Amino acid sequence: MHNWQKELELLSRQGMLRSLRVVEDGQGPKVHVDGREVLLLCSNNYLGIAGHRSLVEAMVSATRQFGAGSGASRLISGTLPTHAALEERLAAFKGTTGALLFNSGYAANNGILQGLFGPDDVIFSDQLNHASIIDGCRLAQARTLIYPHCDLAALEELLEKERPQRKGRWLIVTDGVFSMDGDMAPLRELCDLKERYDALLMVDDAHGTGVLGATGRGTGEHLDCLDRIDLHMGTLGKALGGAGAYLAAPRVAIDILINRSRAFIFSTSLPPGVPAAAMAALDLVESAEGRDLRQKLERNRALLAGLLTDGGLDLLGSTTQIVPVLTREPEVTMTITRQLLEDGVFLQGIRPPTVPQGLCRLRATVMATHEPVDLAQAAKQILTSVGEHAG
Ligand SMILES: Cc1ncc(COP(=O)(O)O)c(C=O)c1O
Repeated sequence: MHNWQKELELLSRQGMLRSLRVVEDGQGPKVHVDGREVLLLCSNNYLGIAGHRSLVEAMVSATRQFGAGSGASRLISGTLPTHAALEERLAAFKGTTGALLFNSGYAANNGILQGLFGPDDVIFSDQLNHASIIDGCRLAQARTLIYPHCDLAALEELLEKERPQRKGRWLIVTDGVFSMDGDMAPLRELCDLKERYDALLMVDDAHGTGVLGATGRGTGEHLDCLDRIDLHMGTLGKALGGAGAYLAAPRVAIDILINRSRAFIFSTSLPPGVPAAAMAALDLVESAEGRDLRQKLERNRALLAGLLTDGGLDLLGSTTQIVPVLTREPEVTMTITRQLLEDGVFLQGIRPPTVPQGLCRLRATVMATHEPVDLAQAAKQILTSVGEHAG
């Protein structure tokens, strides 16, 4: 117990101490931190709709009708009309025969992998997959083989090597858009591989859903292979502006999860207002306004990434609204983050274990509602600060 203080001091000396910062007025493009206005460049509210009137009204109206809380887990008495309606909508959105809500993306990845896979199965997992996938693989107790990031040849080699002793199910699991690098998984080629080796493909599209594809259906739509993906995991708390997560998948997989997934079974369901807000978010995503927001997001992404690249920074192959800037060491990364905040730009330094040692970075995330002039100014400040401290 008493060693905790020492542990914190050690983290501090290593430049690895984490602490919380209050954003005083929600998730708009400009917010107040410590009483000062700053540009918010680290929110996953990519479309800028977390405070949108239609989401807020849907949440308030469902809360008035059904109450603030759901009262129980889904299998007891906590399945309300908003949960059922959203699941039907999500299945239609992703083109599957079923969908199931989870209370967060973290819970979803834990619960999907633990619920659908077991010790006889093999999971092939990208090296840079989100922590919740890594933890889900552990909970599943499946044999888990990590393949180098997006390396199709290495993955195929692993599949080939495993073939002679195959017993149970095989799953290839990948982020659609990688959360700390902003690059996309080669989903079409992964579909080819999983079909060739009779495996399933699960895509965690936490950062693609709502943002990518002509109608916002995500990375699969963008790469023209949505209907070849078996298990579509996505979150409702990023581009969709609310909270929670889902799996869209064949009905039979959903029914297994309802019976086996511990994260689903043993947890009070989302408050009824939350699915109602997600429904309004999907309406928005599929509307002309949603298309316009996606275009603005892409314009803003291209502007910020272009200015930083022109200034000589390494953006680690990002092609999306997640724009990382490689800074390598933790102390330097946190010095830059602090200086930028003082100068009015709020973004986060990312350190191990979120990213590998020596690959610390600033993680800038662009929103559709940012003004180009503010992003141009932020790019200048980032270039100056990185030049001073990490050049
Ligand atoms: C790829 C990915 N999957 C899952 C999650 C977890 O989602 P949630 O924040 O809803 O728990 C995140 C982010 O937090 C993520 O980046």
